Amino acid sequence: MSATGAAPQSRLPSDFNPLSPENVADPYPFYRAMRHNAPVYHVPGIGFFIVSRYGDIHHVLCHPEIFSSKQPPGVDTRAPDDVMEILSQGYPPVDTLLTNDPPVHSRFRALVNKAFSARRVGALEPKIRQISNELIDCFIGDGEVELVSQFAVGLPMAVIADALGVPRSNMDDFKRWSDDAVAQIGGMIGHERQLECAHSFVEFQRYFEARLEERKSAPRDDLTTDLLNARLDGTQPLNVAEMLSIIHQLLIAGNETTTNLIASAMMLLVRNPDQMRLVTEDSSLIPNMIEEAMRLESPVQGLFRVAKAASEIGGVKIPEGARLVVMYASGNRDEAEFPDPDRFDVRRANARTHLAFGQGEHFCIGAALARLESRVAFETLLTRMPVIRLAAGKNDFAHTPSFILRGLKELHLEFEPS
Ligand code: HEM
Repeated sequence: MSATGAAPQSRLPSDFNPLSPENVADPYPFYRAMRHNAPVYHVPGIGFFIVSRYGDIHHVLCHPEIFSSKQPPGVDTRAPDDVMEILSQGYPPVDTLLTNDPPVHSRFRALVNKAFSARRVGALEPKIRQISNELIDCFIGDGEVELVSQFAVGLPMAVIADALGVPRSNMDDFKRWSDDAVAQIGGMIGHERQLECAHSFVEFQRYFEARLEERKSAPRDDLTTDLLNARLDGTQPLNVAEMLSIIHQLLIAGNETTTNLIASAMMLLVRNPDQMRLVTEDSSLIPNMIEEAMRLESPVQGLFRVAKAASEIGGVKIPEGARLVVMYASGNRDEAEFPDPDRFDVRRANARTHLAFGQGEHFCIGAALARLESRVAFETLLTRMPVIRLAAGKNDFAHTPSFILRGLKELHLEFEPS
């Protein structure tokens, strides 16, 4: 037995590949095997350590002085020369939020926190309700809907487009830039796709560079103008590369995650009619239902850290320079924290203690916005569609092929309108 009381790591097959399509489709048995047999699992052949228990994940996230976020995202960090050539036509990537450490991270974070304060986010509620209703208007007469493409994609995209002050008519480009940015994070794309994503990144930068330029002479009440007026430490303006980095992270971190949360929460409700009944009978359960859905189907399954110094986690020695994946989604099903962890229980008392928004310095800056969007989404959906069921024969519950992000590709529903 290891120092954690767990059985030795050899109980996981030696050729085990966490990136295999089977594991990406259903990672939960693997997470359970890790938590029980090798809670800090050194993946053979790939080399990184996966941290799978709630307490250990919490420890890593709260010690940024040892476990750094300063690294390129992704499993394979070496981009081929032709990809680098395309990227060199844009602004160089700079570390602002996700890939930064204190104290520099804290300076950027303080600026962006202002834009996401509870007051500013709360003021968006009427707009979010209006967007939700407009999306529902487009399919309410049909009696059926593919929820991902017809609702869950559009809502967060329209909200962030409005917040940045860019026209919703550009939303198809937004969606493409955001999809292309997240596609690279799981490290599971081929060379052609890498080239496409690099072109898309440069295109994104050119578009927002022009919007920032416009705001110089015609400021508006939007996030783009806020970034232009922001002053690091009260004096120093952000440069264009820093502003673009922040906008890019808002797109990457805020869109697909919220889309996936809405879709998976609905999937859990329609597959658990007793829980659906509880929520439709008492809408005050919606916020906790959303926390519980996020715990069970965490849109961000895990993220990377690098050990700045040799250390130990759960009795396992971590060498300096080692790469780690903090597997939030596994911690969220840790039986030591959540009794009967695979059960969807909309009344679970501690659902909100999940790690799906991270913890510590990098705790999701958009958490209040994501919570508001999904609460309003379910309030409007369940009011206007009081009876919802899976569309017969249309759902295969396939997920996007990523080791890091989890999301249903489609969710076909039938419903009776109110
Ligand atoms: C359900 C929806 C969401 C989930 C599950 C989610 C998840 C996360 C997680 C796990 C982190 C921590 C990263 C780390 O530990 O390194 C994070 C950070 C972040 N999130 Fe979210 N997020 C969501 C929605 C949003 C939204 C709506 C926005 C903004 C529009 C947003 C913007 C960010 C940014 C900018 C960071 C980086 C914060 C930093 O490094 O200081 N997220 N998010």
